[in-house]
Amino acid sequence: MKEELKKIEEESLKSIENANYLKLIEEIKIKYLGKKGELTAILKGMGKLSKEERPLMGSLANEIREKIEASLKEKENSLKNGLLEEKLKYERIDVTLETDNLILGHYHPLKKTIEDLEDLFIKMGFIVYDGPEIESVENNFDLLNTPKNHPSRDMSDTFYFDENRLLRTQTSPCQIRAMKELGAPLRMICTGRVFRNDEVDATHSPMFHQMEGLVIDKNVTVANLIHSLDYFVKAFFGNDMKTRYRPHYFPFTEPSLEVDTTCINCKGKGCPKCNHTGWSMELLGCGMVHPNVLRNCGIDPDIYQGFAFGMGIDRIAMVRYEIKDIRMMFENNTKFLEQF
Ligand code: DAH
Repeated sequence: MKEELKKIEEESLKSIENANYLKLIEEIKIKYLGKKGELTAILKGMGKLSKEERPLMGSLANEIREKIEASLKEKENSLKNGLLEEKLKYERIDVTLETDNLILGHYHPLKKTIEDLEDLFIKMGFIVYDGPEIESVENNFDLLNTPKNHPSRDMSDTFYFDENRLLRTQTSPCQIRAMKELGAPLRMICTGRVFRNDEVDATHSPMFHQMEGLVIDKNVTVANLIHSLDYFVKAFFGNDMKTRYRPHYFPFTEPSLEVDTTCINCKGKGCPKCNHTGWSMELLGCGMVHPNVLRNCGIDPDIYQGFAFGMGIDRIAMVRYEIKDIRMMFENNTKFLEQF
């Protein structure tokens, strides 16, 4: 039996030494140490040995088993390391490769404008608030002091789901949500999609984007409104821009104003684009928050006042990138989008 064991030891260690791939290691293991393996068979036959021989052969067999196991493990590790090294060599990234031809994605001009607006207002101390596109009639109209006979409430102007739910026609309901949730004082903006039953043409779309702003605090006046909007226009479009304020009507502000800016094309000199007036018309609507709106949101108008403003982001992006037709924003024509 001793000779048989020695033979197994010699043969198995030799074949482990010669093994050059992982699967072979597994096969060798099964051949000698497996349930039907050669060493296992010998151990099973130990019963036939004499009492004296049994412990001697037993410990020799165990010694050999340990040797085989250790040598298998060692070989397995070295093969694995070799594989890893080869993989690393093969998969090495060549950082010097030319990358000029890679096509990189980029922001849509509208998204870029939204991000830039948000960044600017965050710097001015505003938070960015988010509201849903499906709104209640209450938030979109009633709590914004919009009377029942206001034309924007008409079925032909607004997409209703039922009596109480609609696609928001403006981002102004976010003011209501923010005041109710966060109370006063408050400085927030909100950007997002709004929906109106408009025919599509070069300057109209049933879906477009707005940005809403709201400031509520003690002692807020029209002076703060004008200063903030003037600061925004200069920071966003350039220091040589001016703002001009005209009286207007919005149900949720009193007084209400419309804001024009210096013509971005001629910087106020007068050109065909601005009908030689030097002004771009209607950049945004704004005003002092109507006391009814404050009251509707649980804010006491005798303690707090506020100003609000709203603007069309698509228009701003169109002015900024000299895009002539709003439809180009939504057609996803890559030839158009690749320019930005
Ligand atoms: N919601 C208005 C619109 O869609 C825009 C607007 C005007 C928003 C005045 C305001 C505001 O917050 O104060 O035409």
